[in-house]
Amino acid sequence: MIQISLASGFVFDAANVYGKICVTAEEMAVFSPQLRQAHAAICAMRESGEAKVHVSKDGAPEKVLFYRLPYVGDRGLNTPERLAYMEAFAEKARGRVDAVILYGVGGSYLGGKVLFDAHCGTLWNLLPEAERHGRPKIFFAGNNADPRSLSELLRFFRAEAAQKDEYRVMHVVISKSGTTIEPMAGYIIMEAELQRSAIATETVAVTSPAGGADETLLHRLAREANWPVFFIPDGVGGRFSVFSEAGLLTGALTGFSLRSFLDGARAMDKACRSDDITENPALLNGALKYLAAKNHGRSIEVFMPYADCLKSLSEWYVQLLAESLGKRLDRNGQVVNYGRTPVAAVGTTDMHAQTQEHQEGPQDKIIQFVSLGDWQADLIVPETYNRHAGLDMLSGVPLSRIMSEACRANAAALAEDNRPSANYILPELNAFHLGELMYLLCLSVAYEGELADVDAFDQPGVEIYKRHLRASLKALQTR
Ligand code: PA5
Repeated sequence: MIQISLASGFVFDAANVYGKICVTAEEMAVFSPQLRQAHAAICAMRESGEAKVHVSKDGAPEKVLFYRLPYVGDRGLNTPERLAYMEAFAEKARGRVDAVILYGVGGSYLGGKVLFDAHCGTLWNLLPEAERHGRPKIFFAGNNADPRSLSELLRFFRAEAAQKDEYRVMHVVISKSGTTIEPMAGYIIMEAELQRSAIATETVAVTSPAGGADETLLHRLAREANWPVFFIPDGVGGRFSVFSEAGLLTGALTGFSLRSFLDGARAMDKACRSDDITENPALLNGALKYLAAKNHGRSIEVFMPYADCLKSLSEWYVQLLAESLGKRLDRNGQVVNYGRTPVAAVGTTDMHAQTQEHQEGPQDKIIQFVSLGDWQADLIVPETYNRHAGLDMLSGVPLSRIMSEACRANAAALAEDNRPSANYILPELNAFHLGELMYLLCLSVAYEGELADVDAFDQPGVEIYKRHLRASLKALQTR
């Protein structure tokens, strides 16, 4: 039985995965030398920026630096000047820019989408401008090459622009490598089509800061056309980039508190300095997930927040887990085919879809819940039908209570059949606690990479299909 509560009120409740269910204290005790070793490796990485055998996709030595992003001004990844510039930039867009389209895919999309959904909710773009405090409508594109989605977006802008004297769209093209197919294709099409429709546009780039021979094409286009540029620093991979300008710019444009988000990440980083699993939530999380898979066959992780607006957090985590830990080779070059299959879910919705299988299917899953304490918006079910058996128990009950009781019921039902689950409990959904949680997840996979001895920071498997796709697209040009 174990639960780590931080001073902020954030709780990692692992009571249903450690102790009686799944991983035992004896197993953990036997494992303690590996835990100490993994912790020492993470501490060494924090000091030197180096992770064992890690190289970039081009085979060049590459540092791993995501854990420095929360420390504004410290060793220069996020600086006070850049944060102030980003906030001022977003402020200038207020009342001037009608809509922003963010083009990015994978790590250059998923993190920003979480910040948007958590802060703005589902109906932001339907709110009148005054309700958005003059902030622009926000759209995501380039996270697929789907012609229908892009055509619909175009149709939408033409219709919107027809109702205004001047309609202005800001393109934000996010690509660390600067040539990724989906966002670049999306941007090039949308810019050309909006120009053709006489809709005013402006472009912003978010890319690698490298210069000279390493300058990205996107960076060069930005320099030549004088577009504003934001950066994803060297040593920060896409799936860890939510704490860089890639994620933060999306937040800034909607009035999300970048500083609270980074404060939360920093608080979590500081809470993860001990080599004691009863104190360090990332070490505990990495160790439990690793042992649950290795010794108990829990090779699938279902990530299930109880909040609609956190569905994109599940999607972000799917990428983080899959790309970081799904590896054919370990760091000694041995074939291990390590990984845990991530599944995105949402409570209570997926209790009416996936839970049947979680409860009675193969004993190969660990369910990871996220639940919220206080909801800023709550509604109470009126007593309209309190005399009707079946609906009487709803009378006078806040919806937030239904959510928390449903999560508890789900965990209890799983526990009755010795099926493990854990819960991240956020006192409320705000920028600080979101920063804590997203940072905890990043550091947890870093720990698990150490425990499994795989490089959690590369993605060689993704490069293989990219080579095929680029070759077939090139072949189309020569026909
Ligand atoms: O995590 C990753 O590295 C990837 O998902 C990338 O973010 C994604 O492929 C997009 O790459 P880029 O930012 O270079 O366009």
